[in-house]
Amino acid sequence: MLSKNTLGVPRHFLDLHRLSSADLRRIIDHTIASKKNPHPDHKPLLGKTLAMIFEKPSTRTRISFEVGMKQLGGETVVLRGEEMQLHRDETLSDTAKILSRYVDCVMMRTSDEQYLQELADSADIPIINGLTDQSHPCQIVADIVTYEESRGNIKGKTVAWSGDANNVCASWIHAAVLLGFKMNIATPKEFAPSLQVMRWLEEVKGRESITLFSDAHAAVKGADLVVTDTWVSMGNLDVARRKTLLAPFQVTESLMQSALPTALFMHCLPAHRGEEVTSEVADGKQSVIWDEAENRLHAQKSILQWCLRAGL
Ligand code: CP
Ligand code: NVA
Repeated sequence: MLSKNTLGVPRHFLDLHRLSSADLRRIIDHTIASKKNPHPDHKPLLGKTLAMIFEKPSTRTRISFEVGMKQLGGETVVLRGEEMQLHRDETLSDTAKILSRYVDCVMMRTSDEQYLQELADSADIPIINGLTDQSHPCQIVADIVTYEESRGNIKGKTVAWSGDANNVCASWIHAAVLLGFKMNIATPKEFAPSLQVMRWLEEVKGRESITLFSDAHAAVKGADLVVTDTWVSMGNLDVARRKTLLAPFQVTESLMQSALPTALFMHCLPAHRGEEVTSEVADGKQSVIWDEAENRLHAQKSILQWCLRAGL
């Protein structure tokens, strides 16, 4: 019996660094263009169904994929990991085969990227990474769209990251190499980019794309964009230690003054005001956090269309 998928080799959206620069650029450009010029009657995903599996909480990712899929004419099924037989020892590989007979695409948010890879290895349909402990690629598509729609091409620009070099930072690093911008990353030693990311940079000869700093002001000096994220990601247990070590990396108005006057501020949200960022910065005139959140919707639509070969 044939699987539901008739699109040939599935186009997975697992990690930015597994895409070609050209594909990432197409997805970003398509997002900017379709946001500017919406065609609400265009339903390229009519008859398609997206299953979303969440093993961690979500507000933006869940809603933006659900609304995005519906706007494109498709349907969604939302599942919590623990409600599935997957959590009673059904294998990922069997689950992937079953999903491939019912739906056209799967978005999964889970802890271990290896888990997502196993799902992709056995699926006949595209698998989308909706965040793992190691990366958050969909977020960074929306972030780059947000930068470029107000400031133009990000190539050659400097993005400063201050805080924990976590999953979101890892996807920013992947994008820096693919799209040709620089990242200044300020962290305590303990929360510097992971060995996995550093090894990848060596492999692709991309080490010069990032500069590591122990001082936030030095990293932000002259930056075009300042980005941070929570000090305590989902699954992190060492809360008190993190808050102590990361305190000097808080994004404040004084830190923003070290960046270019035209610099933007971004945060993937949810934010913890008074921790990684002050309210003055989050709500200040350089902040584009609400556009960034809105752009999750526009970006998810392009990612879905790319995965399902529906218009890009
Ligand atoms: N930024 C982001 O992924 O938000 P959610 O956790 O709410 O999906
Ligand atoms: N780094 C955060 C991102 C949340 C969207 C986390 O993994 O919890």
